[in-house]
Amino acid sequence: MPTEYIYLETVDSTNLYASKDVSKTNPQDIRVYYTFNQSEGKGQFGREWYLGYHNNVAISIVYPWKNMKATDNVAILMGVSLAIQNALTVLTGVTNKIKWPNDIYVKDKKLGGVLIQNVLKGSKVSYSIIGIGINVNSKRFPKRIPNPVSLNQITGTSYNLDEFTKLLSAAIIQYLDIRKALKFKTTKKDYLESLYKFKKEVKYKNKKGEIKWGTIKDVDDKAHLVIKDSDGEEHSFDHGELSLMA
Ligand code: BTN
Repeated sequence: MPTEYIYLETVDSTNLYASKDVSKTNPQDIRVYYTFNQSEGKGQFGREWYLGYHNNVAISIVYPWKNMKATDNVAILMGVSLAIQNALTVLTGVTNKIKWPNDIYVKDKKLGGVLIQNVLKGSKVSYSIIGIGINVNSKRFPKRIPNPVSLNQITGTSYNLDEFTKLLSAAIIQYLDIRKALKFKTTKKDYLESLYKFKKEVKYKNKKGEIKWGTIKDVDDKAHLVIKDSDGEEHSFDHGELSLMA
């Protein structure tokens, strides 16, 4: 499938822009909307996504599916996370992990965030809008941003943002095409292998605000995180029901 790249000089949110733009048509081809200057970047749970000015990249890939059901959302989440994790490794040589459900972590710091919107047509996913923010060239971040790190801080390299975006997006798309062709076989196993702190002890805060310790055991069929508590009990958490403390 051909890919169209759409550079936006400045935009509120590439996900919002992509969503409005593609809803006018029914996309058959892959489109990549991107900017280095995003004024109202959306994070998980309506949180802010910090981009800065011409230091980092905000990308929204519109990826059409055929034969993906709404109930395949977990395969999409895991496949997309793996695609980004793998593309970043290939492109930069930097070892990175997926922090459940789909943050990109290097050691104990956040290199990137992902926001996936699946657009349904009946019971099928017509396309996904895959929003990706990667910290590329920033040398420092505002104090309010929790735990960030950029590629520049890790490698000392200053990246050409346009080239970086195109190479990264192409690698993500290629990886997803392969996963799709393989009907998402072994996706869960591969996801767990790339999961930050899998089978390790983690400190987390539950919805009541209690701090607990436990071991990450699994990510189940609903994409819930399964943790075995220090008292031996297993609990599963939906996204937003706990925060892992790095
Ligand atoms: C998160 O970790 O909370 C997810 C952050 C996702 C940010 C990206 S930047 C490109 C796209 N456009 C947005 O407004 N958000 C996503």
